[in-house]
Amino acid sequence: MLSAERNQYLCGTDAGTPMGGLLRRFWAPILLSSELPAPDCPPVRVPLMGETLVAFRDTDGRLGLIDEFCAHRGVSLWFGRNEECGIRCPYHGWKYDVTGQCVDLPSEDDSTGTRSRIKLKSYPCIEKAGVIWAYLGPPGQRPPEPALEWTEVSPDQLFVSKRLQECNYLQALEGGIDSSHVSWLHGNAFKEDPLFTGSRGNQYNEEDRMPIFEIEPFDGGLLIGARRNGAEGHYYWRITPWIMPWYTIIPPRAGHPLGGHAWVPIDDHHCWAWSINYHPNRDLTEAEREAMQGGKGIHVTYVPGTFIPAANARNDYLIDREAQASGRLANGVEGIAMQDASLQESMGPIQDRTKENLCLTDAGIVATRRELMRAAQANLDGKPVKGLAAGDQHVRSAAVELPHDTNFVEGARHGLFAELGTEPLTV
Ligand code: FES
Ligand SMILES: [Fe+2]
Repeated sequence: MLSAERNQYLCGTDAGTPMGGLLRRFWAPILLSSELPAPDCPPVRVPLMGETLVAFRDTDGRLGLIDEFCAHRGVSLWFGRNEECGIRCPYHGWKYDVTGQCVDLPSEDDSTGTRSRIKLKSYPCIEKAGVIWAYLGPPGQRPPEPALEWTEVSPDQLFVSKRLQECNYLQALEGGIDSSHVSWLHGNAFKEDPLFTGSRGNQYNEEDRMPIFEIEPFDGGLLIGARRNGAEGHYYWRITPWIMPWYTIIPPRAGHPLGGHAWVPIDDHHCWAWSINYHPNRDLTEAEREAMQGGKGIHVTYVPGTFIPAANARNDYLIDREAQASGRLANGVEGIAMQDASLQESMGPIQDRTKENLCLTDAGIVATRRELMRAAQANLDGKPVKGLAAGDQHVRSAAVELPHDTNFVEGARHGLFAELGTEPLTV
């Protein structure tokens, strides 16, 4: 349970809030590169942590992320034309470059000096792993580029999707580190989902619904170990790294690709759920890529032309009560991603955590909240913030059977902190 104040502290991400300040210290994934496919292509709205921004790729291929609204009289530059190294407001023709500088102000003679004084808010962007990232923090504190393992592999080894989730980022993130719900909510995936089937771990997941959690810190966040009964004398460990401030890496199943998420606030009531699959040492197969594109595993299908899932709150997530009654689907919703999202959205835009009753399997959630609050406070106090140094994101998930007396981090260290390109540690 959290007090209302603490809940607000964790969930509020606007500029000027403690958590908003912390999250702005990190590069944020904002768009798929394919959303800005070519120089001078149409701009894209980017609502992010309560700010309203617009992104564009200029004639020279440079990326701009600037205030959505024209400095003249507030027209949305989403209506603007992206032309000759700048975006031109269609109302009176003021034009801005990728730094937000007004470079043309046709309604007034340049000698007045107005044009050179006009500069919109702008943020730096980079492109890596088919994703455009932005940095919204203090200019002097820009961290090293993202170095999560999935950002370092070749495009052939990687699949990235995103979807709108209609709730606060924290309750989505909390689903990502809650290994205990998998046995209940996603039970059908063990048998049906082509990106899940064939793992010995599935059986352990199904048979032991009372996982024991152990949590250990590492430089980039927390290693959240969920222990279930495994083969004779062994425990089956699923180890999920939570990487500051919003990343998770999902433990693998058999030889399937690894999964991962980023939960990035749009505003306090919405977030982008980024879903990633990658394999550290082989290309994805055509069948895997097809399954991901078809909404299997942690991906979804969409309302055409949007990133809104086809199953969403407006259509009750296409709930199938018969499939629920038969026991095939725990909540009647198809697909791992929407099974999660439907329930997380059902908690309301911001879960009222003053009413929750946490139990032992919520240990990872408690530890993550504590780390986030500690880091937000450290940032406010001008102290070092965890997860920002080069190398802090060098970690991978693991699924492993270990003898009863083996510490999970020691037993899996070679898999958790493996070199790029090596075989995952998986069961
Ligand atoms: S509102 Fe944009 S140029 Fe006038
Ligand atoms: Fe889930």
